[in-house]
Amino acid sequence: MPLHPDTVAVHAGRADFGALGVHAAPIDLSSTNPLPDILHGGDSYESMATGGHPLTDGGNVYARLWNPTVARFEEALSELEHSEASVAFGSGMAAMTAAILAHTTAVGKRHIVAVRPLYGGTDHLLDSGLLGAEVTFCHEHEVAASIRPDTGMIVLETPANPTLDLVDIAAVVAQSDGIPVLVDNTFATPLLQNPLDLGAAMSMHSATKYIGGHGDVIAGVISCSERTAEALRRVRAITGALLHPLGAYLLHRGLATLPMRIHAQQSSARALAHSLRENPAVSEVLYPEFDDERGLIGRQMRGGGAMISIRLAGGYAAAEALTGAVRLFTHAVSLGGVDSLIQHPAALTHRPVAPAARPGADVVRLSIGLENVDDLLIDLEQALAKARVQATA
Ligand SMILES: Cc1ncc(COP(=O)(O)O)c(C=O)c1O
Repeated sequence: MPLHPDTVAVHAGRADFGALGVHAAPIDLSSTNPLPDILHGGDSYESMATGGHPLTDGGNVYARLWNPTVARFEEALSELEHSEASVAFGSGMAAMTAAILAHTTAVGKRHIVAVRPLYGGTDHLLDSGLLGAEVTFCHEHEVAASIRPDTGMIVLETPANPTLDLVDIAAVVAQSDGIPVLVDNTFATPLLQNPLDLGAAMSMHSATKYIGGHGDVIAGVISCSERTAEALRRVRAITGALLHPLGAYLLHRGLATLPMRIHAQQSSARALAHSLRENPAVSEVLYPEFDDERGLIGRQMRGGGAMISIRLAGGYAAAEALTGAVRLFTHAVSLGGVDSLIQHPAALTHRPVAPAARPGADVVRLSIGLENVDDLLIDLEQALAKARVQATA
């Protein structure tokens, strides 16, 4: 019988600990490595610079090409994502950049189809044309119609940041005509959703969020086939978008508690989402388990996750009052950590998005942490009461 994901998360990437005589993952901070001789060192260099692994008799050569601590985290995450390989980067945006370069300019294709909404930084990167790609933004039902002969990649995010819209991954794959589909799996994590099992070519994370889980690492990672990993590692080696081994160590350590964190945070988020629906200061609660007519919760995602967005009846004035009045929630961008955060997407994370696609000024996003759910509710209720008074003043 296959092991449960909770067990895999604890044991992944640790198979050699007994042989090494260690109980915690070793951290290799070497920037360079002794070479056995010119010929084998050079062959190993060649293998890694073109996206492959180090040769056993050639050494790791240089840390921009390969680092064992990073490779250990990648191997562990692959077990949870059901992928052949994973490639880690210095940030989520570096991972997205590598995916774009590997699937567009590197293969002579210029066009990307992107399903909105997306995280503001991703939307900005795609819309900016900075990487030489041309992008058609569309709704998930318009993917097939948006594909061109030079389309190299399809990008989607589910649940989407910040409105928590769900996109049907299998339905987009069915329209893709074989073009690789990248799913930003940051909000769901591999505990709640496995995009590769639904036909996606890549599952991407801002590992800064739930994978790290403690707000102390900036990182990105893409899980995919070994063939795609070669293309991504080549871009990483050439552009230098690598993840530092200390970050990789923390991400690997974070994986062990990911299932327990996700289950606890999701359970609190679900309870809070229901309570917030009854609050007079809130005009709408955006949570994946609400209005799921297509049954994607269960079929695609195992629960609604731990992110909630709310629309405030008092609009921007109420948002300003709310973010200033919370005590347990920290007013800060980012998400997915052990402590709860609150932020205003239109002014911050989604500021660079074209006005027509930007979230409304009445939307506030909540990342639910590991605090006691009753304490969180009391904090939100007192802050929402102040927001209501402020907005009507
Ligand atoms: C869904 C999503 N994808 C990608 C990113 C970018 O990740 P990073 O900030 O690690 O570069 C973020 C950051 O907030 C995000 O929320």
